[in-house]
Amino acid sequence: MNSPAPHKFAADVDHWSDIPGWFQWREGQEDAAATFPEGSTFVEVGCYLGRSLCSLAEVVRDSGRDFTVIGIDTCRGSGAEGQSNTDAHGAAVEYGGGTFAGLLHRNLIACGAADDVHLLVSTSPAAANLFADGSLTWVHLDARHDYDSVVADIDAWAPKVAPGGWLSGDDYDSLWWPGVVAAVGDRLPDAHGWLTAQWRWCKPS
Ligand SMILES: C[S@@+](CC[C@H](N)C(=O)[O-])C[C@H]1O[C@@H](n2cnc3c(N)ncnc32)[C@H](O)[C@@H]1O
Repeated sequence: MNSPAPHKFAADVDHWSDIPGWFQWREGQEDAAATFPEGSTFVEVGCYLGRSLCSLAEVVRDSGRDFTVIGIDTCRGSGAEGQSNTDAHGAAVEYGGGTFAGLLHRNLIACGAADDVHLLVSTSPAAANLFADGSLTWVHLDARHDYDSVVADIDAWAPKVAPGGWLSGDDYDSLWWPGVVAAVGDRLPDAHGWLTAQWRWCKPS
């Protein structure tokens, strides 16, 4: 008898591009690694299985420059959200008995990034409290996408970004994610669209 097909999210991984996820804006990561000085700290909030995080680790490694990379996720998924009320992470959460932390860490190891990336299993605002104001060079937000969550994320992380640094985020799309666009517009009127469907706020120096 054939063994059952493996879940797509649990399939073997050799490279970030094998990891399920939505990330496709690598030029933004390359821009950050080229723009900021060595010693800078980059934070990604909302990692899922590590597609964007493992890409960032590879970009940093390829740059030959020294940056600190931190990934933050509850590892419990975002729940149902969006126009179609889809729980995109639920199956991976269930597969891990209530957490996909094991798969995320496994993928970091498989991509050779486990020694270069610090993983923090935490809610976004609680994690922000661990950092001093002005201590982070770039924070990228890709956690839950409803208005209140994005407002909470922006309010928690904007003070942590250093003058001249970036606060950015994913799914800046008024059709699919109106809460993201509204929250960014209300909290960071100087932010603008960036890359394909991202937004970015450059903190004044
Ligand atoms: C859209 S996915 C991230 C995708 C990932 N950046 C990629 O491109 O591969 C959103 C992630 O945010 C996480 N998340 C949702 N709410 C969160 C919160 N309050 N704090 C931390 N992580 C959260 C979910 O567990 C999920 O893994």
